[in-house]
Amino acid sequence: MKCIWIHCAFLSLLKVPSSQAVCVLLDQFVVLPCEMRSCAAVQWSKVNPIQTTVAECHNKSCSVKEGFLERFRFTNQTNKGNYSLLLNPTKYNDRGAYKCTCGRINKDVILEVIVPIPVSADESSNITLPFYADTQTNVNDVTWLHSSSNVLRYMKNGSTYPGEGYENRISLTEGGFKYGDLSLTITAVQQTDAGLYRCFVQDESTKGDPHAYMIHVAMNGIHLLPTLNLSPLAWTRSSATNVRDVQLTAKELGCSQQTPNG
Ligand SMILES: *[C@@H]1O[C@H](CO)[C@@H](O)[C@H](O)[C@H]1NC(C)=O
Ligand SMILES: *[C@@H]1O[C@H](CO)[C@@H](O)[C@H](O)[C@H]1NC(C)=O
Ligand SMILES: *[C@@H]1O[C@H](CO)[C@@H](O)[C@H](O)[C@H]1NC(C)=O
Ligand SMILES: *[C@@H]1O[C@H](CO)[C@@H](O)[C@H](O)[C@H]1NC(C)=O
Ligand SMILES: *[C@@H]1O[C@H](CO)[C@@H](O)[C@H](O)[C@H]1NC(C)=O
Repeated sequence: MKCIWIHCAFLSLLKVPSSQAVCVLLDQFVVLPCEMRSCAAVQWSKVNPIQTTVAECHNKSCSVKEGFLERFRFTNQTNKGNYSLLLNPTKYNDRGAYKCTCGRINKDVILEVIVPIPVSADESSNITLPFYADTQTNVNDVTWLHSSSNVLRYMKNGSTYPGEGYENRISLTEGGFKYGDLSLTITAVQQTDAGLYRCFVQDESTKGDPHAYMIHVAMNGIHLLPTLNLSPLAWTRSSATNVRDVQLTAKELGCSQQTPNG
């Protein structure tokens, strides 16, 4: 135990630059954050999986490079040191690691693009979302989220902690954890169940497979979809079942995490 603690403390001493994880649904809007105090030259580059310059600022004059021009732009606050990039709509290949550089200062941003599997459920019906993860090794917990709220947390010792509104409405495959089957069943589906569902293991550090579903709830054949920057209860009527109609901010997705400077 003591050994493990020392190991962690040592690792945290080694932690070098600040980095931020940002996630977004496919085709949605996202901000790649970068704030710098006065800086003569700022460069945004993509560093993984490809290496290329995305945008640059010299003497407060900023420009986005060809190939990124259509969907990336700077904020109108670059004169205040806000060199964040606005990306809209996000495409799958936008995922990866970005670096915003001013002299020797680096800000790292990891962009994750979530592509949920769309599913439709009738109001009052039961729905099962198949999720799997490798639990052979020392996986101790599973978490299912609706947007960024807890649906269920399961501990290896069998303890379960349902989220608000899901008490007595969720179940798992019996004995499934042992075989990596983390499928989630929601009974008596309600309109408020519509939206993004994700599954993680190990304190939300590892994604389930598949990682995400978008539930559309049908009522009299009409599908209710969450709208732009939804508060959990804001809905719009639409007969479309298009995932692209759903917009969730990184914060609502619960995946805007910051690793502070070591
Ligand atoms: C920035 O501005 C200064 C003076 O206004 C000028 O001398 C310099 O060449 C400019 N640099 C670039 C990269 O445009
Ligand atoms: C920047 O743009 C936003 C809307 O896009 C606007 O509300 C704001 O006033 C603008 N700020 C400046 C300094 O131009
Ligand atoms: C920088 O601009 C982005 C996009 O407009 C905004 O979300 C963010 O809050 C701004 N940061 C600061 C420190 O004002
Ligand atoms: C949904 O599941 C519950 C609990 O397992 C069961 O009692 C009910 O009959 C199911 N409803 C439908 C429509 O299958
Ligand atoms: C399972 O583990 C959690 C935390 O690790 C603990 O709070 C809970 O009491 C345990 N439950 C059982 C049934 O041992």
